[in-house]
Amino acid sequence: MVAEASRRGFLRSVGVAGGAGVLYSAMGALGLAPVPDAHAEAYRPPQRGDFALTGRSSKKVLVLGAGIAGLAAAYELRKAGYDCRILEAHERPGGRNWTVRGGTRLTDLDGRTQRASFSQGQYMNAGPARLPQSHVTMEYCRELGVPLEVFTNQNANAYIFHENSRALAGQPVRWRTAKADVYGYVSELLAKATDQGALDQALTAEDKERLLAFLQNFGAIRGRAEDWAYAGTSRRGYAVEPGAAFEQGTVLGPPPSLSDVIASGLGQRFSFEFGYDQAMLMFQPVGGMDAIPRALARAIGEGRITYGAAVTAVANTGSGAEVTWRSTRGGRPRTERADFVVAAMPPQVLARLDHNLGTQVTAALRYATPTPVGKIGLEYRSRWWETDEHIYGGITPTDNDLSTIWYPSYGYQGRRGTLVGYYNFGANAVSYGDLPHAQREARAVAQGVKIHGRKYRSELASSFSVAWHRTPFIEGGWVGWPSQTGPEYRLLNEPAGQVYFAGDWLSHVIAWQHGAFTSARKVVTEIHERVLSA
Ligand code: ALA
Repeated sequence: MVAEASRRGFLRSVGVAGGAGVLYSAMGALGLAPVPDAHAEAYRPPQRGDFALTGRSSKKVLVLGAGIAGLAAAYELRKAGYDCRILEAHERPGGRNWTVRGGTRLTDLDGRTQRASFSQGQYMNAGPARLPQSHVTMEYCRELGVPLEVFTNQNANAYIFHENSRALAGQPVRWRTAKADVYGYVSELLAKATDQGALDQALTAEDKERLLAFLQNFGAIRGRAEDWAYAGTSRRGYAVEPGAAFEQGTVLGPPPSLSDVIASGLGQRFSFEFGYDQAMLMFQPVGGMDAIPRALARAIGEGRITYGAAVTAVANTGSGAEVTWRSTRGGRPRTERADFVVAAMPPQVLARLDHNLGTQVTAALRYATPTPVGKIGLEYRSRWWETDEHIYGGITPTDNDLSTIWYPSYGYQGRRGTLVGYYNFGANAVSYGDLPHAQREARAVAQGVKIHGRKYRSELASSFSVAWHRTPFIEGGWVGWPSQTGPEYRLLNEPAGQVYFAGDWLSHVIAWQHGAFTSARKVVTEIHERVLSA
């Protein structure tokens, strides 16, 4: 047992040396404060000094793809002086981390081209758009000097829109109103059941009273004398806002019936914000998500990245590897050699390369199932969602083919603003993606009018849509694995000779930059250990 005085001394000393984080973790270890403190896998970047005593030297590494995994691999290897080159088929770094601004162009696999005409300062993050606080992406933003701001993932003033439900169909319901009604009625039911003795097997008399007190608070229900009734409260919102002097406000009501609230399915939406990765607070880089790849590319050195380089083949050559690529601007194929290759392209694209890595590698790459994903940015001449509807950021989920509408978490109170008009997956993304851009816009706007009215059409200035599954060299929003415990996934997490695979698809955090960063760190560590022990 640690004596009280020495325990305080110990806490003071770790506080001084390591800051509050260390202090609180140490307190947790001593049983003084419950600090659930999860961390990404321990990681130590390669350092130049690692070669000093070993007599070994850094090697040449070719990285295929300047998405987050490829950039992170090169960035980390550069810390120890590895000679890294990145081949990237697009004319920009980032891969799916892509911010669309005025002038951005996209030619889909089918040859249809769009050019964004968003105004100065307006943008859409076509790929990743929100960062959880726990992700290593936050650490990279700190290290790279990428400024962050809050991304609003849930907003009590946004709506839930169900048009296919058995009740309240076609009525946009404010998130706060839905929550008040669902929590209210569920609390009423549970309070009645508790009070009528239905839970006597599970609860002592004291427990029952405490549970009833909780439910009264949680659901804002009446007391025992009024049979625990939920009758609506100001949590639903106001029809007339409270104000000066004698204006008490008019609470929105009455609430729909219990049966209608249950049949509406509105309550099914709340679990979204319980998700580990989706819970507020969340963050975004100021000015666009592509601040992350741009900062990584600068740190690596733009001269080390060849854009417009479409890789066609990769081969082990014994002690090294070689990569063949072709410029997307034309010309003859070129071949480059390196000690190692980090293949950081999507598996469905890698699977089509010529290679000598074995048929099992191809089969494993094909085992991943790409997910179709679509997004449309709608720029408006006014920020009517703020001025008319008091929605400053956040998301409206729908049960139609839009899936979600996102209100921008930047530029509040400005003149113009850019919504995400749909962000959808699977069949909905396929059916929108199949349309030419103008028809995607028309369909998305027609759906949005049902929620927000005519201004959704009349205030529209321009739009830009991405169908990731139809985007060259990417061909999917992300992938799913039928299994991440089987031989296919395991095989790709091992090097194939000199060739290593990296990407969010080789992580348990798929479709997040965290997965790409941690996968890159793993591969960097393996390469560095191999070089040091060779
Ligand atoms: N990470 C992706 C998202 O948040 C899937 O939508």
